[in-house]
Amino acid sequence: MAFGKIPRFSPSFSPSEAMISARYLLQSGKREEVVGKFEREFARYIGAKHSVMVPSARYGFFLLLKGLGIGPGDEVIIPALTYFAIPAMVPLTGARPVFADIGLRSHVLDPESFRAAITEKTKAVVPTHLFGTPCDMDAINAIAKEHGVQVIEDCAQSTGARYNGVRVGNLGDHAYYTFGLTKNITTLSGAMITTNDDSVYESVRAAIDAGGLTPKRKSAKEAMTGIAMFVATHPWVYWATVHPAVVMGNKMGKDPIHERFGEAERVYDTLPPHYEAQSQPQAVQAAVGLKQLSRIEDLNGARIRNGSSLDDQLGNIAGLTVPEYPGGAEPIYMSFVVHHKKREKLAEALRARGVDTTIGYMNCLSRHELFGAYQANCPNAEEVNANLLHIPVHPNLCKKDVDHMVESIRAACMEVGAN
Ligand SMILES: Cc1ncc(COP(=O)(O)O)c(C=O)c1O
Repeated sequence: MAFGKIPRFSPSFSPSEAMISARYLLQSGKREEVVGKFEREFARYIGAKHSVMVPSARYGFFLLLKGLGIGPGDEVIIPALTYFAIPAMVPLTGARPVFADIGLRSHVLDPESFRAAITEKTKAVVPTHLFGTPCDMDAINAIAKEHGVQVIEDCAQSTGARYNGVRVGNLGDHAYYTFGLTKNITTLSGAMITTNDDSVYESVRAAIDAGGLTPKRKSAKEAMTGIAMFVATHPWVYWATVHPAVVMGNKMGKDPIHERFGEAERVYDTLPPHYEAQSQPQAVQAAVGLKQLSRIEDLNGARIRNGSSLDDQLGNIAGLTVPEYPGGAEPIYMSFVVHHKKREKLAEALRARGVDTTIGYMNCLSRHELFGAYQANCPNAEEVNANLLHIPVHPNLCKKDVDHMVESIRAACMEVGAN
């Protein structure tokens, strides 16, 4: 921390990953060997039988649906507060996304809302371990089993989190993960699916192997961005350059960081051709992934230390709602999400104290115009979407940073008032 300035996130990409990137970008060959090794080690880490590296979680999800034979006339239940690209995949198979509500403070799929959304057409449910918080998987699995519904875990924000001691991704039938530069571990973009089902595995594997190779220049560009993020979030650099730019941008009604890393929300009529054309990963992605996997417990451990400290210190502040976790959930604190009725004012008051926050990239999709044909009543997702604010919780924060944030949040909440 320099002069009390705290960035909203910092990357797990470090000089070691930069060195690995340079080495693998400059050499050729070894692709299948390194990718195979990363897939095997990742499957072992999760405890799954099979894994396949895929270019994105959304495409992995699409291929899992196809592998399960899900198509016209079928329904897939998805939590209403999630990333738009996931429900956007379902109509591409001919099936319908059906939105179910989340817990107001857990932010993850509410088992009873899932139960209420089941019809005789329901083929799968997607428990999304949002913000690093595992869902109530005992309840969800029991309901799914009762109704013959496949469980596809969304672990995009929770790689390494546990539920009753078991890693997410090893709790349902199939799972997907994503490794962008802002995630807890990265493979310079890219993702993974895991499954214990041989025929689903073979179907996903065949689709990926039939596709083209991710261009090396794409990986090189991601590595450059990773290095830039590492430098930009260095305390002195951040204090001298990024923080003033964010403050100035916000004064002009803009959020430059949100705009740089955000993606336009959209749905598709057909599968975008580059999904298949760039489906196989480069060796450099798997090599960076192997390094990150060797560091994941430390990276997640730092998040857990910081997140638990925020849990302990942020209760009992007037106007501020802090998260709650399902019983048995061991979150990795990918995000620390609070609610406040005046979140814009709170964000401004925090920025004035050097703490940068964000509203993030999730949306209430049961009321989103892109999903107009699938509207549903999910009041908790609507309320969370209107009031949420992400407090920094990344691994590069030290105790002093967390204490400074707690002080700042207390003072900012007093300043803006509860209602
Ligand atoms: C919860 C969740 N699911 C799915 C995705 C999609 O991942 P990808 O961009 O790899 O398709 C994201 C992306 O951030 C996410 O946050």
